[in-house]
Amino acid sequence: MKVLVTGGVGYIGSHTCVQMIEAGMTPVILDNLYNSKETVLDRVEKLTGVRPVFYKGDIRDRAFLDQVFAEQDIGSVIHFAGLKAVGESVEQPLKYYDNNVNGTLVLVEAMLAADVNSLIFSSSATVYGDPASVPIREDFPTSATNPYGRSKLMVEEILTDIHKAHPEMSITILRYFNPVGSHKSGELGEDPQGIPNNLMPFISQVAVGRREYLSVFGNDYPTVDGTGVRDYIHVVDLANGHLAALNHRGKTAGLHIYNLGTGNGYSVLQMVKAFSKASGVNIEYKIAPRRPGDIAECWADPAKAKSELQWQASHTLDDMTADTWRWQSQNPTGYPSK
Ligand code: NAD
Ligand code: UFG
Repeated sequence: MKVLVTGGVGYIGSHTCVQMIEAGMTPVILDNLYNSKETVLDRVEKLTGVRPVFYKGDIRDRAFLDQVFAEQDIGSVIHFAGLKAVGESVEQPLKYYDNNVNGTLVLVEAMLAADVNSLIFSSSATVYGDPASVPIREDFPTSATNPYGRSKLMVEEILTDIHKAHPEMSITILRYFNPVGSHKSGELGEDPQGIPNNLMPFISQVAVGRREYLSVFGNDYPTVDGTGVRDYIHVVDLANGHLAALNHRGKTAGLHIYNLGTGNGYSVLQMVKAFSKASGVNIEYKIAPRRPGDIAECWADPAKAKSELQWQASHTLDDMTADTWRWQSQNPTGYPSK
């Protein structure tokens, strides 16, 4: 079976393609390279011996999508393509609604026209807003505090309506907690353009000497040490969650929603300490004001994915930090351009 992977050159998509190839699946990648480099495909080939078929183009281009579906015998779609910078989404909301919401509409229209009924969508724990309690279950109330989060929530709601109108479809919504880490080879990893928004890439760039120090956004939260607590999940565990979703739910009609998290929370300072241990580098940090929109703590109840997908995260915090450090130290400036 061929699986169309939109955004497959990106961070989570590239790791998922490697796991798919190793499991005997055939990913067909579609990406406009807005936030990724084609040299990622060299690394996927180096790791697996297979260079996936790659279409460079945009999910908002209906004629292009029709051509891909006509040329390839696609059974399912894993839809990673999207923009993900929260701050940028506040400044440029239209860009986010166009790319993330409109892009998904065009993609689903093309799927329906091509009789492709199975879709896995990358959502986010951000749809839980500021949760009333932790751990977070899938049936908790949803809300959004910024256009990025709202775009994910809108797509979830639109997919729910689409499923009502097309009950023959299998639509799986995966709500990721905080993806970190890298393929254990150090060949694949997270390569943010510009100043990283997220904690782990920022810490690793401090460790490798690209940034002077980490700003810790707030130390007065009601948490274990006052700093924000999140559910960090190794990207290879996350990738395997997509394979489990494809195998267990991708073939069953229905609308399915799963948290992909570990069920453990770590604070910013615990992450700094773990990364210092893995890298042997002292991570300089300064306490800074809280970042607007941040919540105190957030971690998953992953029980539903365990019972229905037979999936659970297996990588430890030490794996996450050691693998990130291997990627960052082997590729201090990220992927080569060509
Ligand atoms: P990424 O930016 O590394 O990968 C996304 C890929 O999609 C990039 O290669 C980009 O070039 C491509 N893309 C973007 N818009 C496109 C378009 N219109 N047409 C074709 N290709 C397009 O991001 P990632 O971290 O791999 O995230 C993948 C998905 O998971 C995104 O939808 C993101 O919102 C979601 N997600 C990510 C996180 C996270 O922290 N990384 C957390 C929750 C959810
Ligand atoms: N943090 C710092 N300094 C930094 C960056 C982050 O102290 O330079 C702190 C944050 O305040 C927070 C924690 O580290 O307490 C994690 O922050 P991230 O930006 O790495 O992750 P978030 O939980 O804020 O958000 C991430 C993605 C969102 C996604 C969400 C849930 O950025 O897109 O996880 O999946 F929606």
